[in-house]
Amino acid sequence: MTYEMIQTRIDADKVGVVTLNRPKQLNALNEQLMTELGAALKEFDDNPAIGCMVITGSEKAFAAGADIGAMATYSFADVYVHDYITRNWEIIRSVRKPVIAAVSGFALGGGCELAMMCDFIIAADNAKFGQPEIKLGIFPGGGGSQRLMRQLPMCQAKLLMFTGDFLNAEEALAMGLVNQAVPRAQLLEETMKLAARIAEKSPVALKFLKNSMLHGADMPLPAALAHEAAMISLVFDS
Ligand code: HXC
Repeated sequence: MTYEMIQTRIDADKVGVVTLNRPKQLNALNEQLMTELGAALKEFDDNPAIGCMVITGSEKAFAAGADIGAMATYSFADVYVHDYITRNWEIIRSVRKPVIAAVSGFALGGGCELAMMCDFIIAADNAKFGQPEIKLGIFPGGGGSQRLMRQLPMCQAKLLMFTGDFLNAEEALAMGLVNQAVPRAQLLEETMKLAARIAEKSPVALKFLKNSMLHGADMPLPAALAHEAAMISLVFDS
């Protein structure tokens, strides 16, 4: 499939890379971009030559949020009845291989939410994370109001979302929002190193492990342990 708003490539180390490519709009996430991103991730998920995926943007912006101009005219029906967010934003949740967000520059609003949908976030030293939706009279609706409070202490999540303030890479690292903060010149190199280390592992075990953790996180511990026991026994069939 050919894409207009993203670029894709497959690295020799079994890593599929998606680069968001609307540089003039700071990679603002519109319908077409999110549809293309979902299709590319699904393609990578189905490709046995790929063990891990990376989503990245430009040096200035991972993504500065959902496309504000496009959203400005949306009504209740456009957003809720036509599933503005769930239709294509949540495809990344159904991807079974590990996904890493490599963030340089702005990861704001839907951009921050997109990064949080990934399994790992590596941040360049110029990264800025934030949920500024409240300044537009809306609030984080791409999973942010739910994922942030599970990822950070509740009081920190509320502070970010109620004020719209930004976090730099060091602050995001200290709070546990990102896995690693690196000099911006080394962002892709460090991300690809991690991706390659993951991509060489058993694809079957990784899928079961991701499944076990994602579903287990939402279960009470006894149910999560029973789910884990079922998953680990299935791995023995591989
Ligand atoms: C559409 C955007 C955009 C966005 C930037 N641009 N962010 N277009 N949607 N989210 C465009 C600008 O309009 C401008 O286009 C160009 O990108 C460069 O932006 P500048 O503002 O000139 O750059 P700069 O001065 O460096 O400021 C960067 C910035 C600022 C701090 C990131 O652009 C900004 O505050 N953007 C909005 C961030 C935001 O509020 N995000 C949350 C969106 S809501 P032109 O044509 O003028 O050059 C959201 C909700 C998700 O994500 C879920 C909803 C249910």
